[in-house]
Amino acid sequence: MRFFIDTADIAEIRKLDEYGMVDGVTTNPSLVAKSGRNFIDTIKEITGFVKGPVSAEVIATDAAQMIEEGKKLAAIAPNVTVKLPLTWEGLKACRSFAEQGIMTNVTLCFSAAQALLAAKAGATFISPFVGRLDDIGHQGMGLISEIRRIYDNYRYPTQILVASVRHTNHILEAAAIGADVATLPPAVVWQMAKHALTDKGLETFLADWAKTGQKI
Ligand code: G3P
Repeated sequence: MRFFIDTADIAEIRKLDEYGMVDGVTTNPSLVAKSGRNFIDTIKEITGFVKGPVSAEVIATDAAQMIEEGKKLAAIAPNVTVKLPLTWEGLKACRSFAEQGIMTNVTLCFSAAQALLAAKAGATFISPFVGRLDDIGHQGMGLISEIRRIYDNYRYPTQILVASVRHTNHILEAAAIGADVATLPPAVVWQMAKHALTDKGLETFLADWAKTGQKI
């Protein structure tokens, strides 16, 4: 499973990159606002060291403007993925980028019907938001299974990019279902390695080793 990092915080991306955990990056307008930095500069800097897909989202709401903005974003680096909202205008822009060979990430997906439309529009990635569905009492992971089944039935090449991930279980369930990618907030990635028995076991090994008086 590929891990994208869901942040516009460059220091966080660099830290995780040292561990080989960054297969790509996703940003959105809220994450850019949170970083407090210039959007274009941020995407330039990220694509300077991340070789996998880096999602940069358009702000326009009509297809013609989305295409204009998307072209500017795609010109930053060949691995920029134009992020488009799942609206009819976004789908129209998605089709246009597919024809131009520009990668797209269709975002704000909350239903299988929307995911089917994105695949038909030639999206490179579809981003179903599991956490936000869970938040309103729906089964976010149920949507991932449903999309997986539909895409497999018709061999759609659109990749399922699980978004709005809140915890390790989301990642594990998405991996078991066979989602192609999960985009993860840095804190969720760091949490994954933690286990009380690992800490306790290491403490015991080191204490026992100290008793041997040996060195490696
Ligand atoms: O980038 C889209 C997505 O991952 C947002 O997550 O936590 O704002 O629902 P969240």
